[in-house]
Amino acid sequence: MPRFKRPTGTQDILPQEQPYWHHVVQTAERLALRYGYGRLDTPIFEETALFARGVGGATDIVEKEMYSFKDKGGHDLTLRPEFTAGVVRAYIENGMQKLPKPVKLYSIGPIFRYERPQAGRFRQFHQFNAEILGVADPLADLETMLLAWDLYEHLEFGGLSFQLNSTGCPTCRPGYIEALVAHYRAHYDQICDDCKRRLETNPLRVLDCKKAQCQPVIASAPRITEHLCDDCRLHFQTLRGYLDTLGKPYTINPRLVRGLDYYTKTVFEVWAEGIGAQAAVCGGGRYDGLVELLGGPPTPAVGFAAGIERVVMVMKAQGVAVPPLPAPTFFIAWLEKSARPLAVRLLVELRAADLGVQMAMGGSLRSQLRQANRRGARFVLIVGGDELARGEVACKNLLDGGQESFPLENLAERLRRLEAGG
Ligand code: HAM
Repeated sequence: MPRFKRPTGTQDILPQEQPYWHHVVQTAERLALRYGYGRLDTPIFEETALFARGVGGATDIVEKEMYSFKDKGGHDLTLRPEFTAGVVRAYIENGMQKLPKPVKLYSIGPIFRYERPQAGRFRQFHQFNAEILGVADPLADLETMLLAWDLYEHLEFGGLSFQLNSTGCPTCRPGYIEALVAHYRAHYDQICDDCKRRLETNPLRVLDCKKAQCQPVIASAPRITEHLCDDCRLHFQTLRGYLDTLGKPYTINPRLVRGLDYYTKTVFEVWAEGIGAQAAVCGGGRYDGLVELLGGPPTPAVGFAAGIERVVMVMKAQGVAVPPLPAPTFFIAWLEKSARPLAVRLLVELRAADLGVQMAMGGSLRSQLRQANRRGARFVLIVGGDELARGEVACKNLLDGGQESFPLENLAERLRRLEAGG
């Protein structure tokens, strides 16, 4: 048993996992740049009050899941449990409201939530997050959803379902909540204790309950889409119109309420097959009140975040292939110890010429060749013997076993042609 183990809910992402990570992050970043998003990196920890206010005091995240601590200066800080609040803080603090609208920002990095670990649920995980600030039109919601769509299309995984709902706004939501609470009060003896508590603290979350006893009450509950004000109804209709025009399939899910308090109007999730029922690989929506709530000018905004661990898990479960990360093409071996100084010089020179080269650290020639094979090299440069006396190195092709000699002069150029297949 090792003396130290990684904390519960965390993962080591080993070298053999990295091709998946590299592929997902590179694809997300390439698409974000192509869509006109700029990258924003915010601190991994922020003032605790930012999340309490931004995400909402009655959410599971703020009530139970934050990694909060006091630093040595007595400041209350929290490891970010999501990106959006920090992105909005940075938007206001850096005067981005003065930039031409829309302001489009993406971020990639670790997120921390003290959740009960289970399949696809970690305490440290990573998100690709994308936000559009400054546009009230449903076109921004569409742009956000298109990026999510494109991401999964480029990652080539199937079995996806886009879940869409509207959570209304401060004008129409209170009326809906009243109707929802009245429905639940009428069925009070049928619901679970958690829902009884949610009814007091965060009534919308009752719709999210997974307990069997609550399902009939959820099924007969009033639907928020039937309580929307004119503005929210028009917004929802317009967005659906865009999606229909583009032929993008989606499911209206009146139970989709999301676990963060800042949402207004559109909310959506993408569910994927492969890691248990209905695993959300991304979620997001519109949050028109958040910038103002955090001290900025009234600014409509919309965004989403994809969980990279879950994306990778789904890709593996669905057998999606990813390109391998390139191994150095060349490997330097030596015949006799006296050849080592030249081998080292070659190593440094070839690397300076931007070639991928590794070198044997010891062993017989036979074991050096084995090392080269194991490390995925295509060619071994063998330094020593007669070739060295002639100012040449032997170059062995590990794929076909062929061997030829190259002069040391202009070796980098020669190897570059060889690597390119010439
Ligand atoms: P969220 O739904 O809490 O939204 O998280 C987004 C995604 O992060 C989820 O769909 C899931 O893929 C992944 N995720 C969440 N929790 C975990 C976990 N414990 N382990 C592994 N993956 C997880 C947000 O965070 C919002 N800030 C998204 C957003 C951006 N809304 C507007 N802009």
